[in-house]
Amino acid sequence: MMEEGFQSPKKRGKIAVFLSGRGSNFMTIHDAIQEGKINAEISLVFSNKEEAPGLNIARERNLETLFLNPKLYSSREEYDKDITREVKKRDVDLICLAGYMKILTPYFCDNFKHCIMNIHPALLPSFPGLHVQKKALDWGVKYSGATVHFVTADVDMGPIIIQAVVPIFQDDTEDTLSERILKEEHKIYPEAVRLFFEGKVEVRGKRVYIRE
Ligand code: GAR
Repeated sequence: MMEEGFQSPKKRGKIAVFLSGRGSNFMTIHDAIQEGKINAEISLVFSNKEEAPGLNIARERNLETLFLNPKLYSSREEYDKDITREVKKRDVDLICLAGYMKILTPYFCDNFKHCIMNIHPALLPSFPGLHVQKKALDWGVKYSGATVHFVTADVDMGPIIIQAVVPIFQDDTEDTLSERILKEEHKIYPEAVRLFFEGKVEVRGKRVYIRE
């Protein structure tokens, strides 16, 4: 459960990005930083996948990267303990999950309360989990979208920071819908991170207030 009364810090922040794949959300956050829209720097790009294209992009952008091989650990918690150490070493203020497809343990989530954000390609709390664009189509819902939320041990159920809505059309496929949602992801994720480091994000219980 989130504690009452969290207020995000107004400061030049340090971010760790966690990713497992292509890294387009990571790029939009990094681009927004480069353009001076977010008052932060990326101190680490971490992955559980050695071949994640996003890791290569981070290297090309001269950012520090780290891969830890989950197969070398006896449990998920042991793995997350090592990541925790690496993140704490770098004095990170915010962890941005950007297509990080490994569920974080309660150990990890409890260590970084109010300090982990995630982007999810659906309107939570509808359609948590995986393949959610297909699930939205299969259900026949008329609208879907994207959600930026704080991460708690309860997967995809943390306090919601920003959502964007997209319509679903009759001729949509999983690909066309994913593309429409991704465009919105690229708007709302950098926006949520910007607001966080401007000290404008307040959490009370399950509710997030943006204090502009
Ligand atoms: C994004 O669509 C993101 O919302 C989704 O993975 C994709 C990563 O794309 N995340 C989840 O489904 C998390 N449950 P990217 O690597 O290009 O940012």
